Amino acid sequence: MFRVLFFTIAWSWAYGANIPPVRDGVMELKMVHIVWRHGDRSPTTTFKADPFQEDAWTFGGGGWGQLSPMGMYQHLALGKKLRNRYVYTVNSTYNFLPSVYDQKTMYVRSTGINRTLVSATSNMLGMYGQDDYGSTAGTDYPDAKGWPRGFVPIPIHTVDYDSDHIGNMDSNCPRREWLWNLAQQSDEVKNWRNSAAVSSVIDKLTSLVNETWSLEDFWIVPDALFIEQIYYNETLRKKNLWFTDDFYNQIVAVNDQIYMYEYGIFNKTVTMQNMNIGLELLKVRSGPLMNDMVDRINRKSDCTYGGSKADDCNWINGLKYFVYSAHDETVYAVLVALGIERFAIIPHGYPLYSAAVSVEYWRNTTDNNDYFKLVYHKQSGDDFSVMTSEIEGCGGDYCSMDVLIQVAKRLKTDQPIDQWCLVTESSSTHSISISFVFILAAIINYFSL
Ligand SMILES: *[C@@H]1O[C@H](CO)[C@@H](O)[C@H](O)[C@H]1NC(C)=O
Ligand SMILES: *[C@@H]1O[C@H](CO)[C@@H](O)[C@H](O)[C@H]1NC(C)=O
Ligand SMILES: *[C@@H]1O[C@H](CO)[C@@H](O)[C@H](O)[C@H]1NC(C)=O
Ligand SMILES: *[C@@H]1O[C@H](CO)[C@@H](O)[C@H](O)[C@H]1NC(C)=O
Ligand SMILES: *[C@@H]1O[C@H](CO)[C@@H](O)[C@H](O)[C@H]1NC(C)=O
Ligand SMILES: *[C@@H]1O[C@H](CO)[C@@H](O)[C@H](O)[C@H]1NC(C)=O
Repeated sequence: MFRVLFFTIAWSWAYGANIPPVRDGVMELKMVHIVWRHGDRSPTTTFKADPFQEDAWTFGGGGWGQLSPMGMYQHLALGKKLRNRYVYTVNSTYNFLPSVYDQKTMYVRSTGINRTLVSATSNMLGMYGQDDYGSTAGTDYPDAKGWPRGFVPIPIHTVDYDSDHIGNMDSNCPRREWLWNLAQQSDEVKNWRNSAAVSSVIDKLTSLVNETWSLEDFWIVPDALFIEQIYYNETLRKKNLWFTDDFYNQIVAVNDQIYMYEYGIFNKTVTMQNMNIGLELLKVRSGPLMNDMVDRINRKSDCTYGGSKADDCNWINGLKYFVYSAHDETVYAVLVALGIERFAIIPHGYPLYSAAVSVEYWRNTTDNNDYFKLVYHKQSGDDFSVMTSEIEGCGGDYCSMDVLIQVAKRLKTDQPIDQWCLVTESSSTHSISISFVFILAAIINYFSL
């Protein structure tokens, strides 16, 4: 009888938004942000002499850059794993989200291209769309022939790709390009580029395939070769007689280093035009995303505990789960911002397919302060691992939210990103010229009096 009662209560909790708080001792889970990379895909382009051009790729709608069935599966699997961690189920780690989709609790934001949109759809299918998940035909989806039982469509929101400075690291942003050009003129990058080890790899490749690349486009080669080894491993070796595992690894190593430089990771601080180039690069790449996330956490805290009565509190009070369905570079942007990218770069240079970083907002109900826990899903098939303690300033699995707030603050762009992207001069030159104008105005003023 007790058991029946308990079951009924549990069931109604699982359905409603009134799930009891998730506790870990005195800690209470308040909100989860996830940034993930799409799954396995076709190359987005390739080098001209590649025997595998666009018509070699037929899956996922066909052509460049499409999510493959394997990629869809990887996100289905991740979605199931996320259900096991966050959704109210028999053996979930945290009974945090209702077992049946409740629109007030979550928001999914994808970058505006096919593979991230389809990844988000696939992930939601694993998280909320299976037949035995407790949803009801006629309420959660149509009770109709032809509709897959249990499939609950979940809205995936998106924004214009070219101006998506939060999710797309290739957005239209002249400042990022300007800074990268400066970085390439630094002694560190020049010395690296001109070193025998690096030149020999790039020169050899250029002579083999008769093409040259800018450093920022070099990824095209290892990316295509990586995917061709998955889909055309034998043919690749027959058609590109120069391909060897050893040479491929050298190409990858060069590319990994370019990747790090693009995110401002230098051996020594690079100062040019009175700017810390590494910091400025990271501000443009990670700043908008980190601040978007931290702002939302702060809103949640203010609305829940700070007595805020702002208009958006109604929405944010219900919101528990926010997703960014994005790219390797987006996941990397979070890891670099937190200084833990080395976890993503072993054994490969960047976050792998369906890599996901989860930022959990927890409240300490004893000291009434906010904390976070950082969890990483390295690749398909792996479990989540807690990485908070690797972040500078963090001791254990829970870390003061102040650390995250400081990271976001340090990376906050000086102006809103749409405007900041158009600034292609150093702010010190800018302020010098402004003060010069002021002095001039003062002098003119003085003499005209
Ligand atoms: C329980 O959790 C394990 C591991 O997290 C998972 O493999 C399994 O499918 C779950 N069982 C149910 C009934 O959800
Ligand atoms: C996405 O799909 C549309 C329509 O099928 C296609 O025109 C477009 O090229 C695709 N874009 C990307 C980036 O995958
Ligand atoms: C950067 O530091 C690493 C490790 O100390 C070293 O192997 C590498 O050569 C350095 N690179 C440059 C360009 O100085
Ligand atoms: C190399 O590329 C150039 C420019 O694309 C082209 O004009 C030339 O014919 C190519 N040479 C060979 C040997 O393919
Ligand atoms: C491709 O083939 C090579 C050797 O023939 C093998 O070592 C490698 O693991 C294969 N790669 C993949 C992705 O299957
Ligand atoms: C929560 O706050 C209490 C009281 O300050 C403190 O002793 C405890 O370590 C905190 N717990 C965590 C996980 O930070």
